[in-house]
Amino acid sequence: MDFDILFEKFSQLVLESQSFAELQNVKAQILGKNGEITDLLKSISSLSIEEKKTFGASVNILKNKVEDIVQKRAEHFKDEETRLKLETERLDISLPLTPLSIGKIHPITRLMMEIENFFKPQGFTFVDGQELEDEWHNFDALNIPHHHPARQDHDTFYVKGSLKSESNQRHVLRTHTSNTQIRYLKDHKPPLRMISHGKVYRSDAIDATHTPMFHQMECLVIEPKISFAHLKHTIQTFLEYIFGSTNIPIRFRPSYFPFTEPSAEVDVRCISKNNQLIFSNEGNWMEILGCGMVHPNVIKNCNLDPNQYQGFAFGVGLERLAMLKYGITDIRQFYNNHPDWINHFGSNPLCI
Ligand code: PHE
Repeated sequence: MDFDILFEKFSQLVLESQSFAELQNVKAQILGKNGEITDLLKSISSLSIEEKKTFGASVNILKNKVEDIVQKRAEHFKDEETRLKLETERLDISLPLTPLSIGKIHPITRLMMEIENFFKPQGFTFVDGQELEDEWHNFDALNIPHHHPARQDHDTFYVKGSLKSESNQRHVLRTHTSNTQIRYLKDHKPPLRMISHGKVYRSDAIDATHTPMFHQMECLVIEPKISFAHLKHTIQTFLEYIFGSTNIPIRFRPSYFPFTEPSAEVDVRCISKNNQLIFSNEGNWMEILGCGMVHPNVIKNCNLDPNQYQGFAFGVGLERLAMLKYGITDIRQFYNNHPDWINHFGSNPLCI
């Protein structure tokens, strides 16, 4: 048997194959179960020992050589496929991007995130408050007596029905986040630093500066030796952080809250320019938050000894802060869900 001729024949078959599939067929014909070389290998067993040696060796050499060229041909098809792919799938980097449509973070949410960024590293715990509250936690415990105007029907949303309450009192939609002071103080032993933010409700008119629902943030610190100076510093640095400036005209004006003594309101000075509020030493004072040293009665109402514990608290309307920060002039815009508005005033979530 002339193995050279055989090899010539097989390599021609292999080289004539025009695709990977064709090559597989040719390979099966030669090396498959009933392939020609396989048949030759099978025939070895019927030969004499001498013949086995020479014939067997030649068949194996032939088999290896054919396998080699099959493999080379397969690689050729693979390369060819890659080349074609590269050619047809060439990237056109000059093509404009498909516009990516992503949502924006609402300015109030953004503000809440910034509040967390400021207070968390200072050891404040963030707590969720409850919006449906009983009168005791919303008013009584905060030393707000029954005759206080905030308890009149026109300010407070009272909730009908017989909801179970610890103190068997009526329920209200909380009028401020100060209810979280009480709930937290009752459950935690000082020293403590707490922040809570969320929705509050007041039966107000709806106009450019009022809506029946808005957001507040509450801060409470009860620690030994806490003074009004700590309160002032905290508020000053907080406002500087939120507005990104150390040049904000701020004043603390004596005021009255039943749950703090002494109490103050904080004003910032700004002017209205091109429909925007801008901090300015020539402007009018605008109230932005209420604060004070926690009233001893509040500490007592939470079963703590006011001779042992003292601290400060403040509460701030988030819409007010956001209006000043972003130059928003009408509070109602926060809740209109107007796509153009949120696109303009919202923040890109990928850039925060
Ligand atoms: N709860 C007050 C309000 O809604 C704000 C406040 C909070 C004042 C804490 C003093 C201390 O106006």
